[in-house]
Amino acid sequence: MTAQIIPVQTFDLVVFGGTGDLALRKLLPGLYQRCRDRQMPSEARVCGLSRREMSDDEFRELVRGALNDHVNADDLVPEDVERFLGRLSYISLDATGSKGWPDLCSFLACCADRIRVFYLATSPELFGPVCAKLGDQGLVTPQTRVVIEKPIGKDLASAKAVNEAVGAVFEERQIFRIDHYLGKETVQNLMALRFANALFEPIWNRAAIDHVQITVAETVGVGNRADYYDHSGALRDMVQNHMLQLLCLVAMEPPSAMDANSLRDEKLKVLSALKPIRPGRVEQVTVRGQYAPGAIDGKAVPGYLDELGHRSETETFVAIKAEVETWRWSGVPFYLRTGKRLAQRASEIVVQMRPIPHSIFERDAGEVRPNRLVIRLQPDEGVRLYLMSKDPGPGGMRLKTTPLNLSFSETFKVRFPDAYERLLMDVVRGNQTLFMRKDEVEAAWTWCEPILDGWKQSDEGPENYGAGSWGPSGAVALMVHDGRRWVEPGT
Ligand code: BG6
Repeated sequence: MTAQIIPVQTFDLVVFGGTGDLALRKLLPGLYQRCRDRQMPSEARVCGLSRREMSDDEFRELVRGALNDHVNADDLVPEDVERFLGRLSYISLDATGSKGWPDLCSFLACCADRIRVFYLATSPELFGPVCAKLGDQGLVTPQTRVVIEKPIGKDLASAKAVNEAVGAVFEERQIFRIDHYLGKETVQNLMALRFANALFEPIWNRAAIDHVQITVAETVGVGNRADYYDHSGALRDMVQNHMLQLLCLVAMEPPSAMDANSLRDEKLKVLSALKPIRPGRVEQVTVRGQYAPGAIDGKAVPGYLDELGHRSETETFVAIKAEVETWRWSGVPFYLRTGKRLAQRASEIVVQMRPIPHSIFERDAGEVRPNRLVIRLQPDEGVRLYLMSKDPGPGGMRLKTTPLNLSFSETFKVRFPDAYERLLMDVVRGNQTLFMRKDEVEAAWTWCEPILDGWKQSDEGPENYGAGSWGPSGAVALMVHDGRRWVEPGT
């Protein structure tokens, strides 16, 4: 069965930060794909906003360049590109001043009944002021939604302040807090795997599972995002949001339905059940690292401090032993690990089963290894289930680990849409299932904040690791201490 494209209702989408990195790299290429697939109605309009002076045509040329850079050449069909560019307009606007607001009001005035989306692809300090301004200008209709992107705050208090400022203008049903990991195909597949197959639920608990590992490894460094990143670090940038969302999807109880609140209620229960890591325990169960010079794919790369140009204690790697204090998961650690400039770009969830209780095989049959389920999020999306099998041929019983391999790209010969394509259309549809609710964001901060406090109080800075490695030796020690080891992606 091929994917069905269901057109959404006509909308006006206004992108604050319309000439910025997120808009040019992800949002506009994503919208182009939806336009190319005829999901975007012919009357829909997209308006880019930023301080820069630019005409509509100059903006269109800028976006044309972005499409050339960020859309696969096979998907760049000249008439589709022109059709998409024709939907774009541009307004030069000062988000906190007065310039440009009358133009925005008259742009939107024609279509007050339409679905209206304000995407705030800006720095988070502007979320509150821009929302207030949208309210003052009378631009918030019942059909309006606002999209905000992480970082939503840098700690619990600032996250609450953002939520309050946005919530003063918009109702919760109108607020879409994006975590783009939730829009990834394989992340959604995790829900299909768990809740569309009866096979897993009976073993999805402490009786059968020894531990879970979640790795999100990147080869990129901080590049031109150093200013943002140095104030953030891996815990705020990746763990507070993407990694905890993944953990929630693995650990949550089956929701009663696939609607926004049923799903988010279950995720919230997981976040609330995370065992707090008080500053006194931080050194035992967390490891932070910072990349030093090294080589990736045979190419020398500089260290974090060289890229930054000054001293810093910001972590570019973090490993954490998390525990979910529920009947289902008691005694089953969730090891999280993420970092920049690691050996490979790979994200995987490893569900490591317990060993068999008793072996009936002779010693020379070989080791009976516990089963392992590996969900590969990117690249080469798929699922592998490692089983023990008999090595074929004569010579008695010899056992071997063999993967049952489901490669999504080979099984489904379709283009895997970028997460933003799906999420943007969900915003237009008003479907909040794959977006974070206010209480989820705050619960995630409640868990992360004591870790940040513990690091601040510690005399030790982040441990160095060579670019191109799998992180600092402390991360290996974290596992070895528990008699376990990291499963390197792809093995
Ligand atoms: C972003 C982080 O949210 O996710 C980046 O800010 C990170 O630092 C990125 O590189 C990873 O996303 P993806 O989709 O490339 O895995």
